Amino acid sequence: MTTQTIAQLFNLTGKGALVTGGAMGIGQSIVSRLAEAGASVMIADINMEAANKTVKEIRAKGGKAQSIHADVRIAADAQKAIKATVEAFGHLDILVNNAGIYPYSPSLQMSEHMWDNVLNTNLKGMFFYSQAAAQEMIKAGHGGKIINVASVDSYHPYGNFAHYDASKGGVVMLTKSFALELAPHNILVNAVAPGGIKTPGFDQAAAILVQTSGISVKELEEGTRARVPLRRLGEPDDIAKVVLFLASGAADYLAGETVLADGGILLT
Ligand code: NAI
Repeated sequence: MTTQTIAQLFNLTGKGALVTGGAMGIGQSIVSRLAEAGASVMIADINMEAANKTVKEIRAKGGKAQSIHADVRIAADAQKAIKATVEAFGHLDILVNNAGIYPYSPSLQMSEHMWDNVLNTNLKGMFFYSQAAAQEMIKAGHGGKIINVASVDSYHPYGNFAHYDASKGGVVMLTKSFALELAPHNILVNAVAPGGIKTPGFDQAAAILVQTSGISVKELEEGTRARVPLRRLGEPDDIAKVVLFLASGAADYLAGETVLADGGILLT
């Protein structure tokens, strides 16, 4: 029996959301879509200049957004960001664990610092934000949604990204583990796994690959595009729309799922 209209399912008015790494790239588009759907969104980021610019853009479109300096590598910052979200919006309904880094490094040359930095950003941060969010959601007693950003690298190695691939493989299992523990509290934990998406981080990674491989950015992008069955790189909004679905009432029976949004690249 249908109880809600499609418009109601996707209406996030009155919801409080927190997006890590929401200042730029995929996170920025996620913030934009959640705000467009009516949510009040807190951006937790380390780049405050970009975060404040994004807040301004959201407000100019009539959306509600704020920002806080919070580093996902620091567990205490997760508590701080969640407290700030609840103070600003009254409650936390949606957490998007998006912040992530992908510095190029052949395994044989990888330093301990680089390994720790990637694992702490991509995996440890996700754990402690999810823990802090779930504690708050359980205390408030209204359930919630936690959405993690994984990667095609969760399933298939790219080469020279062992730290990243290991962290993103971990994201898929962390999503399932939290989903299992939190489902009885009506907290739904799911993930999206993007393929190659044009973002500032992607451009930075491409520039380094270009330096090390000797091919041009254009050749690299064309090569990537040619491997994607949809024949295009993804846009940040391709991922934001999946996150919107996972945050919406249309995804109320999904728990522990990772949705691949990769233009079909893993089919090849
Ligand atoms: P990006 O580099 O363009 O943006 C990342 C954002 O996270 C920035 O605002 C940055 O300031 C913030 N950030 C970085 N470290 C942080 C920290 N320690 N604490 C808080 N914020 C931090 O990255 P992009 O491409 O938008 O990636 C977002 C997510 O999507 C990452 O988890 C990434 O692994 C994932 N992804 C990206 C793909 C792509 O092709 N762009 C493909 C698959 C997954």
